[in-house]
Amino acid sequence: MPRPGITVRGTGARSRVAAAGRVPPRWRGEVERVLITEEQIAQRVRQLARRLERDFKGRDLIIVPLLTGTVMFMADLLRHLALPLRIDFMGVSSYGAGTESGELVFTKELRMELRSRDVLLVDDILDTGRTLKRVSEKLRSLKPRSLKTCVLLDKKARRVEPIEADYVGFEIPDAFVVGYGLDFAERYRNLPFVGVLKPEMYRAS
Ligand code: PRP
Repeated sequence: MPRPGITVRGTGARSRVAAAGRVPPRWRGEVERVLITEEQIAQRVRQLARRLERDFKGRDLIIVPLLTGTVMFMADLLRHLALPLRIDFMGVSSYGAGTESGELVFTKELRMELRSRDVLLVDDILDTGRTLKRVSEKLRSLKPRSLKTCVLLDKKARRVEPIEADYVGFEIPDAFVVGYGLDFAERYRNLPFVGVLKPEMYRAS
């Protein structure tokens, strides 16, 4: 009998993903379940890369990933992007180490000139939308020729700002996710999968 799955939607193709992947023993004490496996991420990243290649062909592309959560996503996406491009990381962080998005602090400014360039802003997760909205506004003020947004994860249930990303890896339920770059209190970024943190881990802090 199949176990009840978690619906994780990839843009364009709805996929019902079994509550797949077992949590590796090392993380079993802290991670409740695997939400998106390494294999599912790898497949989706390749699909996104193909779409981006089509859409940005012949453009003067600058990718602006937000630190720190995008590190794994960017490393994987970049190696599949056969396009001339440049990268300029921007540092932005919600103030504090808790689970709620709060005030935004810019920790690294851009070094490149974005004026008249085609800019792709990349983030790991679109949650309340405050970060993407605020950073999009900041980038738009620099007068790029075009500005598109790409997120690995989209947690629509928690949206506060009316904003959507142009490219989405997975639509996910309202669960506290960590791994593949996403942290809780700066930990768990190194998990190769996206997992759901056990509530007692964040309730305890
Ligand atoms: C996280 C995440 C997004 C943002 C999304 O950033 O990386 O940038 O929150 O939340 P929002 O849609 O509610 O604004 P965080 O400040 O935790 O920084 P990090 O990338 O260093 O983890």
